[in-house]
Amino acid sequence: MQEPIFLQACRREPTPYTPVWLMRQAGRYMPEYRALRERVPFLTLCKSPDLAAQVTVEAVERLGVDAAIIFADILLIVEPMGVGLEFSQGDGPVIHHPVRSGADVDRLIENSPAETVPFVFAAVRKARAGLPPHIPLIGFSGAPFTVASYLIEGGSSRHYLETKRLMYRDPGAWRALMERLVRVITAYVNGQIAAGAQAVQLFDSWVGCLSPTDYRTFILPHMKALVQGITPGIPVIHFGTETAGLLELMAEAGGDVIGVDWRIDLDVAWRRIGSHRAVQGNLDPVALFAPRDELRRQVERVLTLAAGRPGHIFNLGHGILPQTPVENVMALVEMVHEISTKTVQSSKFKVQS
Ligand code: CP3
Repeated sequence: MQEPIFLQACRREPTPYTPVWLMRQAGRYMPEYRALRERVPFLTLCKSPDLAAQVTVEAVERLGVDAAIIFADILLIVEPMGVGLEFSQGDGPVIHHPVRSGADVDRLIENSPAETVPFVFAAVRKARAGLPPHIPLIGFSGAPFTVASYLIEGGSSRHYLETKRLMYRDPGAWRALMERLVRVITAYVNGQIAAGAQAVQLFDSWVGCLSPTDYRTFILPHMKALVQGITPGIPVIHFGTETAGLLELMAEAGGDVIGVDWRIDLDVAWRRIGSHRAVQGNLDPVALFAPRDELRRQVERVLTLAAGRPGHIFNLGHGILPQTPVENVMALVEMVHEISTKTVQSSKFKVQS
Protein backbone atom coordinates (compact mmCIF):
# COMPACT_ATOMS: atom_id res chain seq x y z
CA MET A 1 0.00 0.00 0.00
CA GLN A 2 1.11 3.57 -0.68
CA GLU A 3 2.18 5.52 2.36
CA PRO A 4 -0.60 7.69 3.86
CA ILE A 5 -0.43 11.23 2.47
CA PHE A 6 -0.03 12.85 5.87
CA LEU A 7 3.20 10.86 6.40
CA GLN A 8 4.35 11.62 2.87
CA ALA A 9 3.91 15.32 3.56
CA CYS A 10 5.87 15.00 6.85
CA ARG A 11 8.72 13.65 4.72
CA ARG A 12 8.29 16.42 2.14
CA GLU A 13 7.26 14.00 -0.57
CA PRO A 14 4.76 15.27 -3.18
CA THR A 15 1.11 14.46 -2.45
CA PRO A 16 -2.00 14.64 -4.68
CA TYR A 17 -3.57 17.20 -2.31
CA THR A 18 -2.64 18.89 0.96
CA PRO A 19 -3.29 16.72 4.01
CA VAL A 20 -5.22 18.36 6.84
CA TRP A 21 -5.88 17.60 10.48
CA LEU A 22 -6.84 20.02 13.26
CA MET A 23 -5.49 20.51 16.72
CA ARG A 24 -8.26 19.70 19.23
CA GLN A 25 -10.23 17.97 16.48
CA ALA A 26 -11.83 15.84 19.20
CA GLY A 27 -13.29 18.13 21.81
CA ARG A 28 -16.04 20.27 23.20
CA TYR A 29 -17.13 21.81 19.88
CA MET A 30 -18.51 18.35 19.00
CA PRO A 31 -21.96 17.39 20.32
CA GLU A 32 -20.92 13.70 20.59
CA TYR A 33 -18.02 14.70 22.83
CA ARG A 34 -20.15 16.98 25.01
CA ALA A 35 -22.71 14.18 25.45
CA LEU A 36 -19.98 11.81 26.60
CA ARG A 37 -18.51 14.42 28.96
CA GLU A 38 -21.88 14.80 30.68
CA ARG A 39 -21.40 11.26 31.94
CA VAL A 40 -17.60 11.08 32.31
CA PRO A 41 -15.16 13.58 33.90
CA PHE A 42 -12.27 14.67 31.67
CA LEU A 43 -9.48 12.82 33.50
CA THR A 44 -11.60 9.65 33.71
CA LEU A 45 -12.12 9.89 29.95
CA CYS A 46 -8.35 10.20 29.39
CA LYS A 47 -7.78 7.15 31.60
CA SER A 48 -10.36 4.96 29.83
CA PRO A 49 -8.64 3.50 26.75
CA ASP A 50 -11.90 2.39 25.10
CA LEU A 51 -13.48 5.82 25.41
CA ALA A 52 -10.30 7.75 24.50
CA ALA A 53 -9.89 5.57 21.39
CA GLN A 54 -13.55 6.01 20.49
CA VAL A 55 -13.32 9.83 20.73
CA THR A 56 -10.12 9.79 18.63
CA VAL A 57 -11.65 7.68 15.85
CA GLU A 58 -15.08 9.41 15.85
CA ALA A 59 -13.50 12.82 15.19
CA VAL A 60 -11.74 11.45 12.09
CA GLU A 61 -14.91 9.81 10.80
CA ARG A 62 -16.94 12.95 11.34
CA LEU A 63 -14.45 15.37 9.74
CA GLY A 64 -12.73 13.40 6.98
CA VAL A 65 -9.29 14.59 8.11
CA ASP A 66 -6.07 12.89 6.98
CA ALA A 67 -4.69 12.03 10.43
CA ALA A 68 -5.92 11.16 13.91
CA ILE A 69 -4.44 12.48 17.15
CA ILE A 70 -4.73 10.36 20.25
CA PHE A 71 -7.18 11.76 22.77
CA ALA A 72 -5.10 12.58 25.87
CA ASP A 73 -3.66 15.67 27.54
CA ILE A 74 -0.22 17.19 27.99
CA LEU A 75 -0.73 17.20 31.78
CA LEU A 76 -1.32 13.45 32.18
CA ILE A 77 2.40 12.90 32.79
CA VAL A 78 2.56 15.49 35.57
CA GLU A 79 -0.16 13.92 37.72
CA PRO A 80 2.05 10.96 38.75
CA MET A 81 4.85 13.40 39.69
CA GLY A 82 2.89 14.05 42.86
CA VAL A 83 1.84 17.68 42.31
CA GLY A 84 -1.91 17.23 42.66
CA LEU A 85 -3.53 17.79 39.26
CA GLU A 86 -7.20 18.64 38.92
CA PHE A 87 -9.28 19.79 35.96
CA SER A 88 -11.77 22.15 37.52
CA GLN A 89 -14.95 23.03 35.66
CA GLY A 90 -14.36 26.34 33.86
CA ASP A 91 -10.89 27.21 35.23
CA GLY A 92 -8.89 24.62 33.30
CA PRO A 93 -6.09 22.67 34.95
CA VAL A 94 -5.02 23.35 38.54
CA ILE A 95 -1.85 22.01 40.15
CA HIS A 96 -2.21 22.11 43.92
CA HIS A 97 1.49 21.87 44.84
CA PRO A 98 3.36 23.97 42.26
CA VAL A 99 7.13 23.70 41.84
CA ARG A 100 8.83 26.89 43.02
CA SER A 101 12.34 25.89 44.14
CA GLY A 102 15.18 23.45 43.64
CA ALA A 103 13.87 21.44 46.60
CA ASP A 104 10.46 21.19 44.88
CA VAL A 105 12.18 19.95 41.70
CA ASP A 106 14.00 17.28 43.73
CA ARG A 107 10.71 16.16 45.27
CA LEU A 108 9.09 15.42 41.88
CA ILE A 109 8.46 11.71 41.57
CA GLU A 110 10.01 10.21 38.43
CA ASN A 111 8.62 6.87 37.34
CA SER A 112 8.44 5.19 34.00
CA PRO A 113 5.40 6.18 31.90
CA ALA A 114 4.74 2.46 31.35
CA GLU A 115 3.88 2.34 35.07
CA THR A 116 2.27 5.75 35.49
CA VAL A 117 0.24 6.23 32.28
CA PRO A 118 -0.29 2.75 30.79
CA PHE A 119 -3.81 3.86 29.83
CA VAL A 120 -2.41 6.24 27.18
CA PHE A 121 -0.46 3.42 25.53
CA ALA A 122 -3.55 1.20 25.67
CA ALA A 123 -5.62 3.98 24.06
CA VAL A 124 -3.01 4.33 21.29
CA ARG A 125 -3.20 0.58 20.58
CA LYS A 126 -7.00 0.64 20.50
CA ALA A 127 -7.23 3.79 18.39
CA ARG A 128 -4.71 2.38 15.90
CA ALA A 129 -6.74 -0.82 15.64
CA GLY A 130 -9.94 1.19 15.09
CA LEU A 131 -8.61 3.46 12.34
CA PRO A 132 -8.48 2.67 8.61
CA PRO A 133 -4.93 1.92 7.36
CA HIS A 134 -4.66 5.16 5.36
CA ILE A 135 -5.22 7.33 8.47
CA PRO A 136 -2.04 7.66 10.54
CA LEU A 137 -2.26 8.13 14.30
CA ILE A 138 -0.34 11.03 15.86
CA GLY A 139 0.94 10.69 19.41
CA PHE A 140 1.86 13.78 21.42
CA SER A 141 3.35 15.31 24.50
CA GLY A 142 3.82 18.75 25.91
CA ALA A 143 7.37 20.02 25.37
CA PRO A 144 9.49 20.57 28.51
CA PHE A 145 9.00 24.35 28.73
CA THR A 146 5.22 24.24 28.34
CA VAL A 147 4.85 21.36 30.81
CA ALA A 148 7.19 23.15 33.24
CA SER A 149 5.09 26.31 32.97
CA TYR A 150 2.06 24.42 34.35
CA LEU A 151 4.13 22.73 37.06
CA ILE A 152 5.55 26.07 38.20
CA GLU A 153 2.60 28.43 37.74
CA GLY A 154 0.10 25.86 39.03
CA GLY A 155 -2.15 26.40 36.02
CA SER A 156 -2.54 28.59 32.97
CA SER A 157 -0.64 31.87 33.06
CA ARG A 158 -0.43 35.27 31.43
CA HIS A 159 3.13 36.43 32.06
CA TYR A 160 4.90 33.21 33.11
CA LEU A 161 6.33 35.20 35.94
CA GLU A 162 7.05 32.31 38.33
CA THR A 163 8.43 30.18 35.49
CA LYS A 164 10.88 32.85 34.38
CA ARG A 165 11.68 33.74 37.98
CA LEU A 166 12.83 30.17 38.66
CA MET A 167 14.72 30.09 35.37
CA TYR A 168 16.63 33.32 36.14
CA ARG A 169 17.11 32.87 39.88
CA ASP A 170 18.13 29.24 39.96
CA PRO A 171 19.48 28.04 36.60
CA GLY A 172 20.66 24.80 38.25
CA ALA A 173 17.15 23.94 39.43
CA TRP A 174 15.80 24.91 36.00
CA ARG A 175 18.29 22.60 34.28
CA ALA A 176 17.44 19.76 36.68
CA LEU A 177 13.73 20.25 35.93
CA MET A 178 14.27 20.33 32.16
CA GLU A 179 16.45 17.22 32.27
CA ARG A 180 13.88 15.36 34.32
CA LEU A 181 11.09 16.36 31.94
CA VAL A 182 13.17 15.41 28.89
CA ARG A 183 13.68 11.90 30.34
CA VAL A 184 9.99 11.42 31.10
CA ILE A 185 8.76 12.94 27.82
CA THR A 186 11.21 10.90 25.71
CA ALA A 187 10.01 7.68 27.34
CA TYR A 188 6.40 8.84 27.01
CA VAL A 189 6.51 9.57 23.26
CA ASN A 190 8.60 6.47 22.54
CA GLY A 191 6.01 4.43 24.46
CA GLN A 192 3.28 5.88 22.25
CA ILE A 193 5.35 5.04 19.16
CA ALA A 194 5.85 1.46 20.38
CA ALA A 195 2.08 1.25 20.88
CA GLY A 196 1.38 2.35 17.29
CA ALA A 197 1.74 6.15 16.96
CA GLN A 198 3.16 6.92 13.49
CA ALA A 199 4.17 10.55 14.12
CA VAL A 200 4.46 12.65 17.26
CA GLN A 201 3.74 16.28 17.98
CA LEU A 202 5.57 18.19 20.70
CA PHE A 203 3.31 20.99 21.96
CA ASP A 204 5.47 23.89 23.09
CA SER A 205 2.33 25.99 23.10
CA TRP A 206 3.56 28.78 25.38
CA VAL A 207 7.26 29.01 24.44
CA GLY A 208 6.54 32.18 22.43
CA CYS A 209 6.67 34.15 25.71
CA LEU A 210 10.47 33.83 25.71
CA SER A 211 13.10 36.08 24.14
CA PRO A 212 15.33 34.44 21.52
CA THR A 213 18.29 34.66 23.92
CA ASP A 214 16.41 32.92 26.72
CA TYR A 215 15.18 30.28 24.27
CA ARG A 216 18.74 29.57 23.19
CA THR A 217 20.04 29.41 26.76
CA PHE A 218 17.24 27.71 28.67
CA ILE A 219 15.24 25.67 26.13
CA LEU A 220 17.16 24.78 22.98
CA PRO A 221 19.64 22.26 24.46
CA HIS A 222 16.81 20.38 26.15
CA MET A 223 14.58 20.34 23.05
CA LYS A 224 17.55 19.05 21.06
CA ALA A 225 18.11 16.23 23.55
CA LEU A 226 14.42 15.37 23.46
CA VAL A 227 14.13 15.28 19.66
CA GLN A 228 17.34 13.25 19.38
CA GLY A 229 15.97 10.68 21.84
CA ILE A 230 12.81 10.00 19.84
CA THR A 231 12.63 6.69 17.95
CA PRO A 232 14.30 7.26 14.54
CA GLY A 233 12.15 7.24 11.41
CA ILE A 234 9.07 8.68 13.16
CA PRO A 235 8.24 12.22 12.01
CA VAL A 236 8.36 14.81 14.81
CA ILE A 237 6.14 17.90 14.61
CA HIS A 238 7.52 20.76 16.71
CA PHE A 239 4.73 23.22 17.48
CA GLY A 240 4.43 26.53 19.32
CA THR A 241 2.42 29.74 19.22
CA GLU A 242 3.57 33.36 19.05
CA THR A 243 6.88 32.01 17.80
CA ALA A 244 7.56 34.51 15.00
CA GLY A 245 10.70 35.56 16.92
CA LEU A 246 11.86 31.98 17.46
CA LEU A 247 11.32 30.02 14.25
CA GLU A 248 15.00 29.63 13.32
CA LEU A 249 15.82 28.50 16.85
CA MET A 250 12.92 26.04 16.95
CA ALA A 251 14.11 24.57 13.64
CA GLU A 252 17.64 24.36 15.06
CA ALA A 253 16.29 22.54 18.12
CA GLY A 254 14.72 19.93 15.85
CA GLY A 255 11.63 18.43 14.28
CA ASP A 256 10.81 17.23 10.78
CA VAL A 257 7.78 19.52 10.69
CA ILE A 258 7.55 22.94 12.33
CA GLY A 259 4.07 24.07 13.40
CA VAL A 260 3.35 27.79 12.99
CA ASP A 261 0.48 29.99 14.12
CA TRP A 262 -1.40 32.60 12.08
CA ARG A 263 0.49 35.64 13.32
CA ILE A 264 3.03 35.18 10.52
CA ASP A 265 2.51 34.52 6.79
CA LEU A 266 3.22 30.91 5.93
CA ASP A 267 5.70 31.69 3.14
CA VAL A 268 7.73 34.00 5.39
CA ALA A 269 7.70 31.40 8.17
CA TRP A 270 8.78 28.62 5.79
CA ARG A 271 11.64 30.70 4.38
CA ARG A 272 12.92 31.29 7.90
CA ILE A 273 12.47 27.68 8.99
CA GLY A 274 14.26 26.49 5.85
CA SER A 275 13.13 24.46 2.85
CA HIS A 276 14.58 21.25 4.32
CA ARG A 277 11.69 21.13 6.83
CA ALA A 278 8.00 20.56 6.40
CA VAL A 279 5.58 23.10 7.89
CA GLN A 280 2.19 22.75 9.54
CA GLY A 281 -0.45 25.44 9.81
CA ASN A 282 -1.57 28.10 9.93
CA LEU A 283 -5.21 29.25 9.72
CA ASP A 284 -6.52 31.46 12.53
CA PRO A 285 -8.96 29.26 14.54
CA VAL A 286 -11.34 32.23 14.63
CA ALA A 287 -11.65 32.06 10.80
CA LEU A 288 -13.98 29.13 11.55
CA PHE A 289 -16.52 31.68 12.82
CA ALA A 290 -16.43 33.69 9.57
CA PRO A 291 -19.01 33.43 6.77
CA ARG A 292 -18.20 30.67 4.29
CA ASP A 293 -16.79 32.97 1.59
CA GLU A 294 -14.38 34.66 4.03
CA LEU A 295 -13.32 31.26 5.40
CA ARG A 296 -12.67 30.17 1.83
CA ARG A 297 -10.55 33.25 1.11
CA GLN A 298 -8.45 32.56 4.19
CA VAL A 299 -7.96 28.89 3.27
CA GLU A 300 -6.99 29.92 -0.26
CA ARG A 301 -4.49 32.38 1.13
CA VAL A 302 -2.74 29.74 3.28
CA LEU A 303 -2.64 27.32 0.33
CA THR A 304 -1.41 30.03 -2.04
CA LEU A 305 1.45 30.91 0.30
CA ALA A 306 2.35 27.21 0.56
CA ALA A 307 2.32 27.25 -3.26
CA GLY A 308 1.88 23.50 -3.67
CA ARG A 309 5.39 22.82 -2.37
CA PRO A 310 5.74 19.32 -0.91
CA GLY A 311 5.83 19.32 2.88
CA HIS A 312 2.81 21.43 3.81
CA ILE A 313 0.34 19.99 6.31
CA PHE A 314 -2.75 22.14 6.67
CA ASN A 315 -3.85 22.86 10.24
CA LEU A 316 -5.03 25.72 12.38
CA GLY A 317 -2.42 27.89 14.07
CA HIS A 318 -3.76 26.62 17.41
CA GLY A 319 -6.61 24.40 18.65
CA ILE A 320 -10.27 24.55 17.63
CA LEU A 321 -12.22 26.77 20.06
CA PRO A 322 -15.07 25.09 21.98
CA GLN A 323 -17.74 27.43 20.50
CA THR A 324 -16.83 26.58 16.87
CA PRO A 325 -19.74 25.37 14.68
CA VAL A 326 -19.06 21.74 13.65
CA GLU A 327 -20.38 22.30 10.12
CA ASN A 328 -17.72 24.98 9.53
CA VAL A 329 -14.99 22.57 10.58
CA MET A 330 -16.34 19.96 8.16
CA ALA A 331 -16.52 22.60 5.41
CA LEU A 332 -12.91 23.60 6.10
CA VAL A 333 -11.62 20.06 5.59
CA GLU A 334 -13.52 19.77 2.31
CA MET A 335 -12.22 23.14 1.11
CA VAL A 336 -8.60 22.22 1.83
CA HIS A 337 -8.94 19.01 -0.14
CA GLU A 338 -10.78 20.61 -3.04
CA ILE A 339 -8.66 23.77 -3.41
CA SER A 340 -5.31 22.04 -2.85
CA THR A 341 -6.06 19.39 -5.47
CA LYS A 342 -6.11 22.23 -8.00
CA THR A 343 -3.25 24.22 -6.44
CA VAL A 344 -0.91 21.25 -6.33
CA GLN A 345 -1.72 20.32 -9.91
CA SER A 346 -1.16 23.82 -11.25
CA SER A 347 1.85 24.67 -9.10
CA LYS A 348 5.29 25.36 -10.49
CA PHE A 349 6.51 22.37 -8.59
CA LYS A 350 4.30 19.98 -10.59
CA VAL A 351 5.01 21.65 -13.92
CA GLN A 352 8.75 21.32 -13.38
CA SER A 353 8.73 17.75 -12.08
O1 CP3 B 1 -6.15 17.64 19.70
C1 CP3 B 1 -6.86 16.71 20.12
O2 CP3 B 1 -8.00 16.46 19.67
C2 CP3 B 1 -6.29 15.76 21.16
C3 CP3 B 1 -6.59 16.09 22.51
C4 CP3 B 1 -5.83 17.15 23.28
C5 CP3 B 1 -6.34 17.64 24.50
N1 CP3 B 1 -5.39 18.44 25.07
C6 CP3 B 1 -7.66 17.33 25.07
C7 CP3 B 1 -8.27 18.29 26.01
C8 CP3 B 1 -4.58 17.74 23.09
C9 CP3 B 1 -3.63 17.60 21.92
C10 CP3 B 1 -4.31 18.54 24.24
C11 CP3 B 1 -3.05 19.27 24.44
C12 CP3 B 1 -2.99 20.28 25.49
N2 CP3 B 1 -3.52 20.24 26.75
C13 CP3 B 1 -2.26 21.48 25.40
C14 CP3 B 1 -1.44 21.88 24.23
C15 CP3 B 1 -2.30 22.30 23.12
C16 CP3 B 1 -2.69 23.71 23.20
O3 CP3 B 1 -3.90 23.98 23.28
O4 CP3 B 1 -1.77 24.53 23.13
C17 CP3 B 1 -2.41 22.18 26.60
C18 CP3 B 1 -1.83 23.54 26.92
C19 CP3 B 1 -3.19 21.38 27.44
C20 CP3 B 1 -3.56 21.68 28.85
C21 CP3 B 1 -5.00 21.82 28.99
N3 CP3 B 1 -5.90 20.79 28.90
C22 CP3 B 1 -5.70 23.01 29.24
C23 CP3 B 1 -5.08 24.38 29.39
C24 CP3 B 1 -7.05 22.67 29.32
C25 CP3 B 1 -8.16 23.57 29.70
C26 CP3 B 1 -8.48 24.52 28.64
C27 CP3 B 1 -9.53 23.92 27.78
O5 CP3 B 1 -9.41 24.01 26.57
O6 CP3 B 1 -10.49 23.44 28.37
C28 CP3 B 1 -7.16 21.28 29.05
C29 CP3 B 1 -8.40 20.49 28.99
C30 CP3 B 1 -8.62 19.67 27.74
N4 CP3 B 1 -7.69 18.95 27.06
C31 CP3 B 1 -9.86 19.49 27.09
C32 CP3 B 1 -9.66 18.63 26.01
C33 CP3 B 1 -10.69 18.09 25.05
C34 CP3 B 1 -11.19 20.08 27.53
C35 CP3 B 1 -11.63 19.32 28.74
C36 CP3 B 1 -13.10 19.10 28.77
O7 CP3 B 1 -13.58 18.18 28.09
O8 CP3 B 1 -13.77 19.84 29.50
